[in-house]
Amino acid sequence: MGIGRRDFVQLGLAGVLTANNGPVAAAARLYGEIPSRPLDILILGGTRFIGPHMVREAQSRGHTVTLFNRGKTNPDLFSDIETLIGDRDGNLQALEGRRWDVVIDTSGYLPRLVGDSARLLTNAVEHYLFISSMAVYSSFTTRFMDESGPLRIMPDTESEEVNEYYGALKVLCEQVVQETLSGRNTILRPGIIAGPGDHTDRFNYWPVRVSRGGHMLAPGNGSDFMQWVDVRDLAQFVMRCLERNITGIYNAVRPAAAYTMGDMIEDSRVISGVKDLEVEWIPLEFLQQHGVEPWDDLPAYMPLSPPGDFSHMFAISSAAAFTKGLRARAATETIADVLAWWQTLPEERRNPMRAGLSVEKEAEVLAAWAKEKS
Ligand SMILES: NC(=O)c1ccc[n+]([C@@H]2O[C@H](COP(=O)([O-])OP(=O)(O)OC[C@H]3O[C@@H](n4cnc5c(N)ncnc54)[C@H](OP(=O)(O)O)[C@@H]3O)[C@@H](O)[C@H]2O)c1
Repeated sequence: MGIGRRDFVQLGLAGVLTANNGPVAAAARLYGEIPSRPLDILILGGTRFIGPHMVREAQSRGHTVTLFNRGKTNPDLFSDIETLIGDRDGNLQALEGRRWDVVIDTSGYLPRLVGDSARLLTNAVEHYLFISSMAVYSSFTTRFMDESGPLRIMPDTESEEVNEYYGALKVLCEQVVQETLSGRNTILRPGIIAGPGDHTDRFNYWPVRVSRGGHMLAPGNGSDFMQWVDVRDLAQFVMRCLERNITGIYNAVRPAAAYTMGDMIEDSRVISGVKDLEVEWIPLEFLQQHGVEPWDDLPAYMPLSPPGDFSHMFAISSAAAFTKGLRARAATETIADVLAWWQTLPEERRNPMRAGLSVEKEAEVLAAWAKEKS
């Protein structure tokens, strides 16, 4: 069974349906992004959020893609693509005896498993690109922190608890890739990844909440920075690294200190066309007194003040990646595309959102704030 248009719409890929001949390819040619050599690309993963965008970007540039996964997540998404079924944990057999030019590892969380695939593939690929995360950094105390920032140290070398040690485990994954494919690897450290198909709702919360209108809680005074990478910009940069043999470690986020929470709410208001929005900016201290924390309850949000370990989490430098060709589309494009994609989702996916304040909690804090002010 081939992929249906509905699948594409739900995963936010409708715009690349005609990528081989359409505007995407035309733009790529204009910018010299069409590679001289088609690549055979293996993706370890490929079917949740970022993987599908990588697949379609690769295809639009004339590359051939093979997927390796367990066949559990969106199994019917890419029936036009060879999918090798296995499990990173103990069943890599389907990869044996095969060769590819490059591998993209989007599903590596444990160094033991990343080590297994890196060792198996070291003679089967020329280049290993590992999707890491900004979570590798232990603190964000300086603005414009680059790739030399302090890394997390794994406190319990036996543990494989990804929820608890996500960042520290990613550090170890990076190391095993670097050791196993020395000089033939690229490590990308994305921040929050945004765009159509995002299953986390961390970015989605803000434009969607604005679009719903009414009395809305917003943290601080609007001047705190936001930073993310659009999944399509990330996919384009991944291809560029593979096509041009760009190795090394790169933060992958939009420019630092360039976009604020105030910008997000205003852009979302204009793009969504909402008429009855009333934004209530509430100081952090009051929010915390009422059990509302940055990041956990207010996704993709981190205040600059009071100064703390994470103050500059959204003021990371991606200068190295921009030098190598990372591009950042306009924030308004990401917001507009997320809102358009959101409208295509079934009601049970849209409510409740997977991140952000519940309707009840927001109303409760707004009522407490109104009382405080009166
Ligand atoms: N979302 C963000 O904001 C964010 C930020 C920074 C970094 N990242 C990084 O982005 C990556 C995740 O992106 P994604 O989930 O959207 O990637 P994806 O490639 O679209 O989906 C994950 C893939 O991994 C496969 N998979 C999971 N467990 C597997 C196993 N044991 N063996 C083989 N295949 C397996 C899944 O298929 P099956 O289930 O069928 O096996 C699925 O195809 C991670 O590396 C994460 O650290 C994400």
